[in-house]
Amino acid sequence: MTLFSFASAQGPLPREVLTQLRDEINPGAGALSLLELPFSVPAFEEMRAAAEQDLRELLALPEDYSVLFLQGGASAMFALVPMNLLRRGEAADYIETGLWSRRAARAAQPWGVVRVAASGDGRSLPPATQWRRSGDAVYCHLTTTETVEGLQYFSFPAADGVPIVADMTADFLTRPLQLAPFGLIYASAQKNLGIAGLTIVVVHRAFVERAHGIAPAPLDFARQAEARSKVNTPPVFAIAVAGKVLRWLRGNGGLAAAEERGERKAKPLYAVIDDDDFYDAPAPKRDRSRVSLRFHLPEPRLEETFLREAEAQGLVHLRGHAEIGGLRAALYNGVTQEAVEALAAFMRDFRQRRG
Ligand SMILES: Cc1ncc(COP(=O)(O)O)c(C=O)c1O
Repeated sequence: MTLFSFASAQGPLPREVLTQLRDEINPGAGALSLLELPFSVPAFEEMRAAAEQDLRELLALPEDYSVLFLQGGASAMFALVPMNLLRRGEAADYIETGLWSRRAARAAQPWGVVRVAASGDGRSLPPATQWRRSGDAVYCHLTTTETVEGLQYFSFPAADGVPIVADMTADFLTRPLQLAPFGLIYASAQKNLGIAGLTIVVVHRAFVERAHGIAPAPLDFARQAEARSKVNTPPVFAIAVAGKVLRWLRGNGGLAAAEERGERKAKPLYAVIDDDDFYDAPAPKRDRSRVSLRFHLPEPRLEETFLREAEAQGLVHLRGHAEIGGLRAALYNGVTQEAVEALAAFMRDFRQRRG
């Protein structure tokens, strides 16, 4: 039986990447394993630089943005962003749309003045036209996909003043991006570009220059930009894996193709959900996420049966977040069309038998 994972916490890796890793992790007697690579040798710098270059090409990243390979995950960034960017008494706007953006706003409170510029109801997103942004904020924080609630922004305000800082953990590199409105983008790697242990940060020069030495050196944007992410030992293996996924993305048509694949993957699942009232996706169509599909069945008991039967067919990790329950399918970059078609077929069959 083929196992298909729809886990929200960790995305699958492309098969080709896993095959390369297998050989490089265990190259046989006499050769150095990728797991043994020191960060202090030229081979690592070549790998890091290649990963950065591939990311730059994928995003068509202008020279005035730095790429940082940090640790601590998006959760650490919730505090590191204000720690690096805000000085005493300075303010930042936060768009609260769900669990992750609320956590980001809470973590920022010790470091500056947090203004909630918009609040969602957890079932839909406040459109940018309704955000009450303040002109004197240093940045406006946005979570582009709320994985728990299954909500995703598909457009962003124009670059007209206060730069956006975005937690793109769930949808980074799943679609082309106009960089101009963004002062900083961060994403934990484990969903769309590899494994846990690495946080990718894309940061504009103006924000690099704002860092003022409060954050510990390995988490200080200016020091890490200066040291090419080698202030201390970086997560070598996680960077190696990200490098391979970035190369894979480039070799498979870049971000336009990633977006097309993403649309094609979400379609059959939402089609089953929209067929009738058996499955319910609470978000309005304009806000529902292509990378984190949240849906419910008429009763929680039926959801337990769904999870059990799905697992027996190799469709695993479909349980919704503990805080709101229900079901959830994450469709990150590494999830295949085959996986999605198998899930859609199971959902149709389950409805026929239990609906
Ligand atoms: C949108 C979003 N932000 C932040 C996080 C937290 O990431 P980490 O556990 O790597 O800190 C997650 C994890 O699921 C997420 O989905």
